[in-house]
Amino acid sequence: MTPENFLDLPPLLGARGTIRLPGSKSISNRILLLSALAQGTTDIRDVLLSDDTERMLDGLRKLGVVVDQLESHVFRVQGCGGDFPVKDAELFLGNAGTAFRPLTAALALSGGHYKLSGVARMHERPIGDLVDALRALGANIDYLVNESFPPLEVFPATLSGVARISVSGEVSSQFLTALLMALPLLDREVTVEVVGELISKPYIEITLAMMARFGVAVQRNGWRSFIVAAGSRYVSPGVMYVEGDASSASYFLAVGAVGGGPVRVEGVGSDSIQGDVRFVDALALMGAQIEQGPNWMEARAPVDGKLKAIDLDCNHIPDAAMTLAVAALFAEGTTTLRNIASWRVKETDRIAAMATELRKAGATVEEGADYIRITPPAQIRHAAIDTYEDHRMAMCFSLAAFGAEGMRINEPNCVAKTFPDYFARFHEVVQAVPVIAIDGPSASGKGTVAQRVATKLGFHFLDSGALYRLLAMAAQRDGVALTDETGLAALAERMEIRFEGEQIWLDGALVGDELRGEQCAAAASNVASLPRVRAALLNKQHAFRRAPGLVADGRDMASVVFPDAVLKIFLTASAEARADRRYKQLKEKGMDANIAALLLDIRVRDERDTRRSVAPLQQAPGANLLDTTALSIEQAVQEVLIRYSAK
Ligand code: DC
Repeated sequence: MTPENFLDLPPLLGARGTIRLPGSKSISNRILLLSALAQGTTDIRDVLLSDDTERMLDGLRKLGVVVDQLESHVFRVQGCGGDFPVKDAELFLGNAGTAFRPLTAALALSGGHYKLSGVARMHERPIGDLVDALRALGANIDYLVNESFPPLEVFPATLSGVARISVSGEVSSQFLTALLMALPLLDREVTVEVVGELISKPYIEITLAMMARFGVAVQRNGWRSFIVAAGSRYVSPGVMYVEGDASSASYFLAVGAVGGGPVRVEGVGSDSIQGDVRFVDALALMGAQIEQGPNWMEARAPVDGKLKAIDLDCNHIPDAAMTLAVAALFAEGTTTLRNIASWRVKETDRIAAMATELRKAGATVEEGADYIRITPPAQIRHAAIDTYEDHRMAMCFSLAAFGAEGMRINEPNCVAKTFPDYFARFHEVVQAVPVIAIDGPSASGKGTVAQRVATKLGFHFLDSGALYRLLAMAAQRDGVALTDETGLAALAERMEIRFEGEQIWLDGALVGDELRGEQCAAAASNVASLPRVRAALLNKQHAFRRAPGLVADGRDMASVVFPDAVLKIFLTASAEARADRRYKQLKEKGMDANIAALLLDIRVRDERDTRRSVAPLQQAPGANLLDTTALSIEQAVQEVLIRYSAK
């Protein structure tokens, strides 16, 4: 795994703030398609910009629909009245179910020749129920690889005149959505009967509401049957606004409930047409305090601070329910989420994926065909969470960083499917365990200052130089050559270190004074110049970041290891002052010392440290300079504390 392929979330202490939500995926893609199928021009505002909407926009353009981007989130679509200008095209629709299913239905009834394909996972997601219903209307659709699954080839329909068709409601509500949206392309009345229990009903409400805005009122008999009347025609309403994404809201609301809050989301609220806003009812059942207005919702932690487990039928909030599964890590008791069989045919098998990853965090998980049951661990474990190319896995598990150790999210860029800047926005509302990073040239006194600052604040302390020194010792112990980068990196991964007050333990053995000796320093300097060693020690350094905070001393603390440190200090002093301090130190220990030799030594080391290519000695961007030439240690400590409290 390369560094770009994971994101380390630090342990989080709290959350508060306000997030303006990106547009809803479900609404964006429905409005884009309806605008294309309509007569007239539609300006769509607050459109979500993400992979899934990009697939729909791209598909429509390939079909000859004129789509102009007027502003970043505003698109103008020139409707073609259902008659796509391009009659022969191949569409690649990624893993966007909200593009694939409705376009399949619209194209199957539109009189052209089209091929529709997606990513490998899209080709594992069933579409047979939709194809069967379209065939009953006379559509000519072939499966190109596997029966009942994409990719598909669509030929002009030989319309059957059938007035009543049925479609299964049990696998995906998108089949019914796709049929309903396409039926006005036929110039006659058609009744769609739903066979079996219709899942995810609120998404059908979105479909019906959007069709109504484009002038087509579907008659309905509850959830059993739907009639699209003869003469139904989509007419542009002129301007449409996309609501904020209610599924995306769930992550921030959960963050508010777990992290204290209040966290407010803007763009969805009690007036929303999206079913996933009911997520707040589930959070309220867990004890969270919820407030909402027409266009906003807000969550904060329960009055007694403790979330409680719930047992809930989640059929009406299939996507947001994933957030409940991770919130269950923070709830007292065992949470059961029921009636979620559709999770198995989404971006990944979400029940299996969720169970596997929650277990990595230490939870006890039971999974069934259509449910998941989660008992949290006493303490949430740090883990590298796999995301299965599923945006919601990545976003849900960001919540798990409220565990004491933070969380690693593998392949975090999968959030681009619906929320490309998710993690940047997430960082805006969460408060991470604070880090004070202190660096500076050798013998500047940074180690002593850092340690005393940590003691004063009650923070943990990381002497990162000691890790390189310990690795050098371990290498000597095990006979690993200082030039063997691979061997050293592996050793760095597996060595076990423990700091207890002044004592340091390496693989169970107490480390003596030789750790601070010149020989060890020279070997440490050697191993510290190897990039793979530095990468291997990254995890170990991150693990020191624990509540209530950390003071980290060392070369790349402020740049590579804790770039989000709240305070970065570059502690320095003149070479003469440093030589003098070192001299006194050695004398105190009863050791022999020569001030001229020490000064020369310091100058040579400064020169080498500044010039080296890996982690050179330099003031990190954003670091505060603290010149201690004229300061005592205590004065330097006070100065750091003053600068910290000013943050
Ligand atoms: O601070 P120290 O002398 O204990 O550090 C030992 C060596 O490790 C020294 O060569 C600097 C290097 N080092 C580093 O490259 N990065 C750090 N974060 C800390 C120390």
